[in-house]
Amino acid sequence: MTRNCLLDAHKRGGCKTCLMTCAHRIALTGLNSKGGRIGAAKVPSEYRNITLATSPARKEQADIYGLLADYVATFERQFDADGQRIKSLYLWSESPGTGKTTTAASLISEYIVAHYLGSLKRGQQAEQRPALFLDVNKLQTDYNLATMTHDEAGLAKVTAEMRKAMDVSFLVMDDVGIRSASESFKSIVHAIINARTTNGKPTLYTSNLPIAEMATVFDARLADRMRDQCAVLHFVGESKRGKR
Ligand SMILES: Nc1ncnc2c1ncn2[C@@H]1O[C@H](COP(=O)(O)OP(=O)(O)OP(=O)(O)O)[C@@H](O)[C@H]1O
Ligand SMILES: [Mg+2]
Repeated sequence: MTRNCLLDAHKRGGCKTCLMTCAHRIALTGLNSKGGRIGAAKVPSEYRNITLATSPARKEQADIYGLLADYVATFERQFDADGQRIKSLYLWSESPGTGKTTTAASLISEYIVAHYLGSLKRGQQAEQRPALFLDVNKLQTDYNLATMTHDEAGLAKVTAEMRKAMDVSFLVMDDVGIRSASESFKSIVHAIINARTTNGKPTLYTSNLPIAEMATVFDARLADRMRDQCAVLHFVGESKRGKR
């Protein structure tokens, strides 16, 4: 029996009685729930199987989740080359643990499902990596380590990750408020955001800083581009970490 299938809300009667070998489930999360398109998107394991409907932050952030249902409906625009753009989102709160990353992960699942089902419907092959989750802190650690140890292979990996982040249709940039990062790492993040805004690609940012601060983290011009076609959602409340 299948539990927690990402397609549960999309199948009449749900996926509870489906076989574990369902081709659609495997296409999304692989045979072992670690692969498929969600695995290729590098969603961290603790956030992997969340949708808007099953997100633990849904109740506390009810107003935001109401808006997000409308936002997810715009994911159909990915199949309409000349249509309106899918907006970017900036999810932020001063305090940690309010459900920003959880929400970003649920939206990346929704995007991948929309891409997969929309492709099937149109008789097209779904991309293997329609979306990517970029943990900006992890990229920074990898980058610092590689520069410190003159590790060419490590640096090449960082560059490859950066290229993927520039090109992918839908990107989550988790923890983009890197106030204390080195100038050279900031320039990497700057380049990713710049490439995506230039090409009109949607990005979902999470941050502990108000969006206005992006002008001091990066520069006024980039901050201006980030704000263009971007909805800002402020997460309220105290940290829920460890309360589940
Ligand atoms: N409103 C909520 N109700 C219950 N649990 C929640 C809620 N919001 C978040 N959580 C849980 O709290 C933990 C932290 O959530 P999450 O990582 O999404 O927070 P965050 O806002 O990204 O924090 P940070 O600012 O530190 O990155 C997770 O285990 C998540 O499931
Ligand atoms: Mg987070």
